[in-house]
Amino acid sequence: MTSKNWPALEGIAYGGDYNPEQWPREVWDQDVALMRAAGVNFVSVGIFSWAMLEPKEGLFDFTWMDDLLDLLHANGIAVDLGTPSVSPPAWFFHAYPEARVTLKDGTVMGFGSRGMASHASPEYREAIARMATALADRYGNHPAVVLWHVHNEYGVPVAEDFGPRSVAAWQRWLQRKYETLDALNGAWGTAFWGQRYLDWDHVVAPAATPTIANPAMKLDWARFTDDQLRECFRIERDILHERTSQPVTTNFMAHQSWNTDLWKWAQEVDVVSDDHYLWSPDPDAHVGLALSADLTRSVGGGKPWILMEHSTSAVNWQGHNIAKRPGEMRRNALTHLGRGADGIAFFQWRASRSGAEKFHSAMVPHAGQNSRIFREVTQLGQHLKDVAEIQGATTKADVAVLYDWESLWAHDLEWRPSDDMQFRERMRAYYERLWRDGVQVDFAHPEADLSQYRLVVAPTSYLLTASAGRNLTQFVQNGGTLVVGAFSGIVNEFDAVHEGGFGAPLKEALGLTIEEFLPLRSGETCAVHYGAEALPSDAWAEDLALAGAEVRGTFDGGPGDGLPAITRHSLGDGQAWYVGTRLGVTALAPVLADVYADAGITLLDRPETLEIMTRHGETYDFVVVCNHANDDAHLSITGTDLLSGTEIDGQLTLAGGDVAVVRTAKEERGGGR
Ligand code: GAL
Repeated sequence: MTSKNWPALEGIAYGGDYNPEQWPREVWDQDVALMRAAGVNFVSVGIFSWAMLEPKEGLFDFTWMDDLLDLLHANGIAVDLGTPSVSPPAWFFHAYPEARVTLKDGTVMGFGSRGMASHASPEYREAIARMATALADRYGNHPAVVLWHVHNEYGVPVAEDFGPRSVAAWQRWLQRKYETLDALNGAWGTAFWGQRYLDWDHVVAPAATPTIANPAMKLDWARFTDDQLRECFRIERDILHERTSQPVTTNFMAHQSWNTDLWKWAQEVDVVSDDHYLWSPDPDAHVGLALSADLTRSVGGGKPWILMEHSTSAVNWQGHNIAKRPGEMRRNALTHLGRGADGIAFFQWRASRSGAEKFHSAMVPHAGQNSRIFREVTQLGQHLKDVAEIQGATTKADVAVLYDWESLWAHDLEWRPSDDMQFRERMRAYYERLWRDGVQVDFAHPEADLSQYRLVVAPTSYLLTASAGRNLTQFVQNGGTLVVGAFSGIVNEFDAVHEGGFGAPLKEALGLTIEEFLPLRSGETCAVHYGAEALPSDAWAEDLALAGAEVRGTFDGGPGDGLPAITRHSLGDGQAWYVGTRLGVTALAPVLADVYADAGITLLDRPETLEIMTRHGETYDFVVVCNHANDDAHLSITGTDLLSGTEIDGQLTLAGGDVAVVRTAKEERGGGR
C-alpha cells in the first residue's frame, strides 16, 4: 500500500455512484435532500464524465462539477472523485482512431458504449494524464473530496489489446523480462511445434492462431496485460499523489475479475475498494458474496476496505436479473461490513431513465422515494450510523485459503486434462464448505508468510512455483495442517510440468506424487470410500505414487477403482492431506472435519445457514450474525445488538432473514498456533 491514509470519514461511509449529469439541475437539490434523509455521507462522482469535463481536446468545463461538489459539501456529503479514464469521449476516438482496442480476431472496437482505449496508446496515456492533472489542480483542495477513484473496474469490459502498439509494447516487455531470446525460447518451450524465435520483432501476441497458441506465451500475455493496466493506473495515481493530499483507490472486482492480479494491485492503492454483484443463477449467491468480501479484505492485508458498488435489487446485465427480496440487501450489505468493509456503497444513486442501465436497480428507484427499496436504503443508512463504532475493527482467521491469479490464468488455458476441473468451481466448493462449517478464513498467496494460520487450504493450485512448494512444506514441518485439492502442483511459472512429475513441489509435504490423471467422462460418477461413508465424486481421479502418505479414502468405481483417493501424511510437527478427486460441498464435509481435528479447529454449534462474522475493535468485539434461513435461529452470546438496541443476555434469537450486530466483550483468544 502507498502512503495516503483512509479513513477520511468518521463512521461508516454510505452512499453510491452519483451520475447527476443525467438530470436537470433542480433534481440535484431533491437528490441531496433525499441523500440526507437516507443517511448518505459519501458519493462517487465523475467516473464517466469525461465528455462533460473536457468537451473539446484541452478545453475543460468545470462549472457543473464546481456546483455539484459545493452542493454536496454544503449538505455534508463527502465525495469520492472519479477520474473518467474508463470512458474517453467521442472526440478522442475521432481524433485518434488508432487508440481503439483491437480484439484477438482483428476486430477494432468502436465508440458508442464504454471501455478504455488501448492501454498502449500514447495518445490515451497523454489524455488521461492531462485530465488527472486538471482534476487534481482544480479539486485537490476541495473540502468535499475525501478520496480519488481512478478509472472503473480495470480489466472490463475489455483488457487485452492486440493492436500493433500493444504488440510492440509486449515485445519490449518480454525483452525486459527475459533479456535474451534463448531465455524466452527456453521458458516458452518453443522447441516444440517449431516456434523458436530468432528476432524480438518476430515474437507475436497470442492472437488468432490455427490451433491453440503456446500456453506459456498466453500466461505471459496475461501478466503483460495486467501490467499494462497497472501502468495506466500509476500514471494517474502518481499525478494525484503529487498534486493532492487525498488517498487514491480504484474499484476491484475480487473473485469476479479475471485480468487483474489483485495481490499486486492492492500494493498500488491507498485503500482497497471492491464491487460485488450477486450471481443470479446461484441460489446461494450470498456464499459467493462472502468469498468476494474475504478475498477483498485479504488482498488489502486485512485492513478495512470499501464496498464501492453493489445493488439495492436486480442488476440488468445477467440472463435473469433477479430482484432482491425484502431484507436481502440489508443482509448483503451487513455481510460485507462483517467481513471488513468500512464503507458500503451502491451502483447507483438514482435509476437512469435512459441508456444501457435503465433496468438496473438504484438507491432511488424509478418508483421514487415512496418505495420499499428507498425505505430499505434509509433503514440501512440508520443501521450504519448505529454501528459506527465498528469502524477500524479487524478480523482474525485461523485458516488461509490459497488464491493465486497466475494459477487461475494458467489453469483456464486450453487443452487441460478435463474441462470439468475449473478453478472458480473448485475455489467455491472448498470455500463453501468452510462457510457452511462457520470457519472464518483469510485468503493468502501461496508464497506468503503462513505462520499465523493453523490450517492452509489449497483448493486448486495448478501453477505452484518451487518456492511456494517449499513455503507450504515448511508450513507443515512447523506444525501446520495443509489440505490440497486435486490437480495442484502441476506446473511452474512458465506452465511447464515440474521436474519430478506432477505434484513434485509438494512431494515432501504430501508424501506422494501423481503418476497419471484419470479424468472421468462427462456425467460419469464414482464414489470414495472414506471411513464408513461412500462420498459421491465425479470428474477426476488419479493414480497416485505414494511416498509415505497413508491412504484415507479409496475410489470405488470409475477409472481409479480401488486406487487411493484421499491421503494424509505427517511431516515434522504437522500433517498434509490430499484430495485427488472432485468432491462437492457435502462430500467434503467428513474430510474437512478430520482436517479440522488435525488443525485443532473446533466448530461452533450452530445451523449452517447462520453466518457469523467477528470484527475485533480496541475495546469490544462486534459479531455480525446473519440468518439466511426462513426460521428463527439461536446463538449463545451476551451483549448489545446495535441494530435493534436490544440487550442480549446469553441467547440471541434471530428471526429468519434477520441480521444482528452484537457488541460484545472482547474474545480471549491467542489466535494462530
Ligand atoms: C459495474 C460498473 C458500474 C455499473 C454496474 C452495474 O460493473 O462498475 O458502472 O455498470 O456494474 O451492475
